[in-house]
Amino acid sequence: AKKVIIDCDPGIDDALALMLALCSPELEVLGITVVSGNVPAKKGVANAKKVLHWMNRPDIPVYLGEELPLVRPYVDAMDTHGEDGLGESNYPEITNQIMDESGVEFLTHTLKNAAQTNDPVSIIALGPLTNLAKVIQEDPQSLAGLGELISMGGSYQSHGNCSPVAEYNYWCDPHAAEIVYRAFEDLPVCQDKKIHMVGLDVTRKIVLTPNILEYMCYVNPQIGERIRKITRFYFDFHWKQEGVIGCVINDPLAVAYFVDRTLCSGIDACTRIATDGLCIGQSVVDGFDFWHGHKNSHVLTKTSPLAFMQMFFDRVLGVHPK
Ligand code: BDR
Ligand code: CA
Repeated sequence: AKKVIIDCDPGIDDALALMLALCSPELEVLGITVVSGNVPAKKGVANAKKVLHWMNRPDIPVYLGEELPLVRPYVDAMDTHGEDGLGESNYPEITNQIMDESGVEFLTHTLKNAAQTNDPVSIIALGPLTNLAKVIQEDPQSLAGLGELISMGGSYQSHGNCSPVAEYNYWCDPHAAEIVYRAFEDLPVCQDKKIHMVGLDVTRKIVLTPNILEYMCYVNPQIGERIRKITRFYFDFHWKQEGVIGCVINDPLAVAYFVDRTLCSGIDACTRIATDGLCIGQSVVDGFDFWHGHKNSHVLTKTSPLAFMQMFFDRVLGVHPK
C-alpha cells in the first residue's frame, strides 16, 4: 500500500474523502493533519475523529495543524459547511487522546524519516496549504521524503468559487499555496516532482444529486443515511446560493485520483498563485508556456464522473456494479 498523510479541513466533502480513503486498501493512512479552512482547525480535528469513529479506525492519529493562514485574515466556510463543519448533523464528539506533536511537526518528521529510509510518503491535501507551507519554510529538505502531492484546489479554465477567479483552498491562504507551488518550481529537491492540481475544472463535475443520494440510502441504509445527514446543509446551500439541485463534492475526487490515475487527465504546466490584488488566490496556470517556467504541476482538466461514482459506490457503500 502507498503510505499517505491526509491534510484536511473537515468539512463535509473532506469527510466523504476520508471515508473513501479509509475504504481503499491501496492506501496506508499514517495520520491526518488538520488545518483551519472550512472550520477552525480544532473543530476540524473533532470532525476527523468522528469520521474515524464511523469507519472503525480510531487507531489513526489526528494532529492539530495551523490555526491561521500565513498572512491573510482567516475566513472560514461555515456558511457552506454549517456551524459544526459537518452540515449541522450534530453527531456526538469523540473524545480521545490529543497528540503532543503539531501537524507541522508530524509532517516534517514523517517526511524526514521517509527520506532517510527511502520509503516515500505522499500527501493528499484537501484544505488550504498552510501546514505544508510551514513545513517548507522550516525544513525544505524534508521534501526529499515526499512521494506525491495531490492538492485539491485552484481552477484553470473554470471560474472560482470564492471570487470570479479563485477557489476556496488557495484563496483562504494564497501565500501558503504560493510557497508550495514555488517550492516545486525552484527547489532542487522537488525538480522531478509535480503537484497534482485537482481543481474546480474537474471537481465541479462530481455532483451528488438527490437521485444518487436516494440510491445510496437504498443500497446501504446505514452509510447512505449518514451521507444524507451531513450533506443536507450542502444541498440547501447550493439551492439557495446557485439555484442548483444537488451539491458538488470536491475533495473525494483527489483521493479517487490518487488511487486510480485513469479517473482524470490533464496537462503539465508552470502554475503560480496570485497573493494580492483583484485576483488574490487565483491559480494562474501557464498552459501555453508564456513564462517558459519549470512545469511544477500536473493540472487536471478532464474526469469521468461515472467512473468516480462507481468507485465511491463500490468502496464506501459496498455495491459492485458489473
Ligand atoms: C474546497 O473548499 C472547501 O470548501 C472544500 O472542502 C474543498 O476542499 C473547494 O473549493
Ligand atoms: Ca476541504
